[in-house]
Amino acid sequence: MIKIARGSFGEEELEEVRSAFDYGYLGLGHKVDEFENELKKFLNANYVVATNTGTSALHLALEALEIKPGDEVIVPSLTFVASFQAISAARAVPIPCDVYPDTLLMDMEAVNEKISKRTRAIMPVHYGGNPCDMKTLLEIKKDRGIRIVEDAAHAFGSTYFGKKIGGFGDITCFSFDSIKNITCAEGGAIVCNEPGLVEKLKIKRLLGIDRKNQTSLSWKERGWSYDVVDQGFRYHMSNLNAAIGLAQLKKVETFISRRREICVQYVSEFKNISSVQLLPVDYSVVAPHIFVILVLGNKRDKLIQFLKDRDIESSVPYVPNHLHSFYRTNTSFPNTDKVFNEILALPLHTELSDEDVWVVISSVKEFFSK
Ligand SMILES: Cc1ncc(COP(=O)(O)O)c(C=O)c1O
Repeated sequence: MIKIARGSFGEEELEEVRSAFDYGYLGLGHKVDEFENELKKFLNANYVVATNTGTSALHLALEALEIKPGDEVIVPSLTFVASFQAISAARAVPIPCDVYPDTLLMDMEAVNEKISKRTRAIMPVHYGGNPCDMKTLLEIKKDRGIRIVEDAAHAFGSTYFGKKIGGFGDITCFSFDSIKNITCAEGGAIVCNEPGLVEKLKIKRLLGIDRKNQTSLSWKERGWSYDVVDQGFRYHMSNLNAAIGLAQLKKVETFISRRREICVQYVSEFKNISSVQLLPVDYSVVAPHIFVILVLGNKRDKLIQFLKDRDIESSVPYVPNHLHSFYRTNTSFPNTDKVFNEILALPLHTELSDEDVWVVISSVKEFFSK
């Protein structure tokens, strides 16, 4: 089976995990400190707060921004349900909006139409790793005082106007789940440039506990005394997950180059297939998480079956959230509704061999040549 996605890990990760074992403490501790510091260097960020998932990072971000029950957060319908769940976990109302039909990124006109008196935040999703129009969003933030929480679960390593994603909005959230550009098995991280907010994020990440004047997460340096100053959550990353992330970070450039190489090859092989519409992605700046095509002429589901018969996995990212029972609305989203019948993600991960990539390419070509 050629898997659509998977992580790439081995001896280096085991070595780091072993050193976490040797230290004798697997919870929130020095490895998390180290991982946050390495992330800061990689992203060129001032502050990073590591979490146990990307979903908890998004929820924590909204809580730290004091998004209240009934407040509205604008988010593209075409995203993984995690973005929506984070908003509803904060008892806020996710307001779905449409995407552009070619890039599948949040449509800025649609965003403007959805802004109401209750809009407190906008959550752009950098779909596939391709950055949204952050320039326009930052203008909206400036003009209307609306907070921007970037869902950058797909975009670890992507750049926007020469700067890595992580710090354009008020808060940027990454995911390091088992199939992301780097993995911690499960994990996430928040980038934020406001020291006051960072303090809040750290306190809320661990049950509202404030250990005044403690600068290190090392349990050996931790005193017994603490105060609880806020409603919090148990959203911290563990030493064990951070250890895996540390080993992964050392390979991130290799991972990104291989992902780019595969995408560029797909693009060059599929560009002349009339029933395939490619997304306009600049792979010299995007660190791709998924490779998505639009299959025109009602052929998408037949292609899925054709690939499955050849042991090739593919998938549809995602079922638009306005179609789920829990988030259903009466509004229609013309572009999202249209592309939902056309989107298809093909295998993209760093364990794909050249031969695997070729099998995917030739199978897709064979399907369309019939
Ligand atoms: C767009 C998007 N947002 C958020 C998440 C949540 O990340 P995690 O799985 O780490 O909770 C994901 C994960 O797949 C995602 O694809």
